[in-house]
Amino acid sequence: MADGFASAQDRATFIAGLPKAELHLHIEGSLEPELMFELAQRNNVAIPFATVEDVRAAYAFSNLQDFLDIYYQGMGVLRTEQDFHDLTAAYLARAHADNVRHVEIFFDPQGHTERGVAFATAIGGITRALDAAKTQHGISSRLIMCFLRHLSEADAEATLDQALPHLDRIDGVGLDSSEVGHPPSKFERVFARARGLGLRIVAHAGEEGPPDYVHQALDLLKVDRIDHGNRSLEDAALVARLADQGMCLTVCPLSNLKLCVVDDMAAHPLKTMLDAGLHATVNSDDPSYFGGYVNANYLAVADALDLSKADLLTLARNSFTGSFLDAGDKARHLAAIDAYA
Ligand code: ADE
Ligand code: ZN
Repeated sequence: MADGFASAQDRATFIAGLPKAELHLHIEGSLEPELMFELAQRNNVAIPFATVEDVRAAYAFSNLQDFLDIYYQGMGVLRTEQDFHDLTAAYLARAHADNVRHVEIFFDPQGHTERGVAFATAIGGITRALDAAKTQHGISSRLIMCFLRHLSEADAEATLDQALPHLDRIDGVGLDSSEVGHPPSKFERVFARARGLGLRIVAHAGEEGPPDYVHQALDLLKVDRIDHGNRSLEDAALVARLADQGMCLTVCPLSNLKLCVVDDMAAHPLKTMLDAGLHATVNSDDPSYFGGYVNANYLAVADALDLSKADLLTLARNSFTGSFLDAGDKARHLAAIDAYA
């Protein structure tokens, strides 16, 4: 066993109690099959599955696009403000059970507006659940709206226009969906406008796309965080740049395994990232589709890479220092980790 743990059970117990933040979570990717059926019935929406087991059996992917096809289909059951509330409330209850103290949640407005569901319906339900979780569970949150990169920049601009009346509830913008062939450069102008509005900037880069997309995210979009970033390791100068800047990477181990970004959890680059001085964090991405929430991600990668107590403490500290919390809140959470350690 790695330093500090007598057994795998000892490490699992340590992970469960560790205070943590989650910085990479697509709320639509937390739609569990049971809720999918409930909402399909509530809204009279047909789904191509007869049972929960059928749904889970369909979650076998060989790449990102395989997953995205079924992810966009799944979100079709979300129609009303109550649906978005129930989805978000279910995720927050899971996060609370994993001792997550702060969440920064993505949503994909274009996945809803293109089906005729209003921007206000989606954001209204999500924020109502976020507000309730603050009182009920003490979980703080930030909300990040993502542009779908397989759509045009003009479409992203129109989405940013729709967001304008809701900017008091939106903290940042991100970039997700099919990466290869849709480089950050395609969205340079809309991200500049978002930055001008005072929004924080993140982008998925280096999940399937090349290291150059990570450079573009830094240089052209001027990101505050990189989502995934795995393929940065192919470029030594990029690794040095990310380490020097203290750029946070939101790494998603079970997602990487399910989407064949890694062949085997034992080959996951998380430990290499930490050893290279990269500011890596552990997150669940789309937990319903990839087989586990944040603690399951910590556990899977810790077991496969034999992570030490020091590694796990670094990952948890990184999750707060890489967050969009203000300095006082970061210090309070870091003190809680020190007390736990
Ligand atoms: N949308 C939801 N999950 C995603 C992922 N892992 N990569 C790109 N787009 C996504
Ligand atoms: Zn993601």
